[in-house]
Amino acid sequence: MKTLGIETSCDETSIAVLEDGHKILSLETFSQIDLHKRYGGVVPELASRRHSQLLTPLLARALHNAHCTLQEIDLICATYGPGLVGALMTGLSFAKTLALDLQKPFVGVNHLQAHLFAALLSNAERSFTSDKEIVSSLFPALGLIVSGGHCDLVQIDRWGDFTALSRSIDDAPGEAFDKAAQLLGWSYPGGPIIEQQARLYREKQKSPPAKNPFTIAKVKADLNLFSFSGLKTQVYYAVEKLKKQQLNSETLLNRKQEIAYFFQECVCSTIEEKIKRLLAKKGNHYRSLLVGGGVSANQNLKKTLVSSFDQKEFPVLWPTKQLSLDQAAMIAGTGYYQYLQKGPSSLSLGAQGRIPFLKK
Ligand code: KG4
Ligand code: ZN
Repeated sequence: MKTLGIETSCDETSIAVLEDGHKILSLETFSQIDLHKRYGGVVPELASRRHSQLLTPLLARALHNAHCTLQEIDLICATYGPGLVGALMTGLSFAKTLALDLQKPFVGVNHLQAHLFAALLSNAERSFTSDKEIVSSLFPALGLIVSGGHCDLVQIDRWGDFTALSRSIDDAPGEAFDKAAQLLGWSYPGGPIIEQQARLYREKQKSPPAKNPFTIAKVKADLNLFSFSGLKTQVYYAVEKLKKQQLNSETLLNRKQEIAYFFQECVCSTIEEKIKRLLAKKGNHYRSLLVGGGVSANQNLKKTLVSSFDQKEFPVLWPTKQLSLDQAAMIAGTGYYQYLQKGPSSLSLGAQGRIPFLKK
């Protein structure tokens, strides 16, 4: 079954063709980062306009690279939320028009579930049986979504059956990376730059750096909830302190890299601590950890979490760098298994900026 996936929830326009839900035949992604960089974040109207310009040429390229025609597509899937409503509508309308025209089933996909699916797709040998079924011994699994808009822990009793366990009460980690980078005078998106500058700082140190001056937020009401806005404020004050000092450019850069390093360490240990706390509470309930979202591109976070758990007892399934960012392969894969479990979505399904599955 050839499945077409379409992703336009934010600033990546992406189209993929998968064989069933697990084998990527083609994946074409156009990142709009250069368009939005000068504004320090995504401008929704510009994103929607660019998506509509790009969808048709990307579809042609995705079909060409998958060596198939539009008529050979059996299932059409698109993200319906959460995300920027205007941006979502461009991909969703495009997908529904194709489905109507080709008389093929349409499936609307939840972007967050798809980020978790990216962990399965990236570890296909481990995640799918020879009959293309999702390996049942990975469940119940714990899902961690860390992106520009979300920080969620989710219980996955079996693929398709999600229960929200925890969320951030304020900023998402990607948002914190973006805002910290902005405070440090670096460009958007902040995650990759902070990761790079933190690595440069670490490489210069002969021994492990001193105690982290930044502290993990404690959310009084519920110990499982995340909070990252306090960390952003700590970075703000650290940068303000720097500004008051007369430093030469080399020392200034070194001090900024030090802030980036400790900031990143603090984000990683916050996430590690919450997961450990949850696992301690739930005993040996979970059999694997599926990680997804843009921040999973961070190799320091990967190192922290993978080394935290015995990989035989509690394997951590991490997406490849390509699949950690927004792309349509995860949409096609999620849509395919959703179609097998629940059938097609209604063509009246609308774009949803927020989705209650992970309640705010
Ligand atoms: O999942 P995503 O592509 O879009 C959303 O659905 O939000 O995530 C984008 C976020 C941005 O905030 C970006 O700074 C962050 O992911 N990000 C990273 C890295 N690469 C992207 N954060 C930390 N380290 C990275 N290497
Ligand atoms: Zn995303």
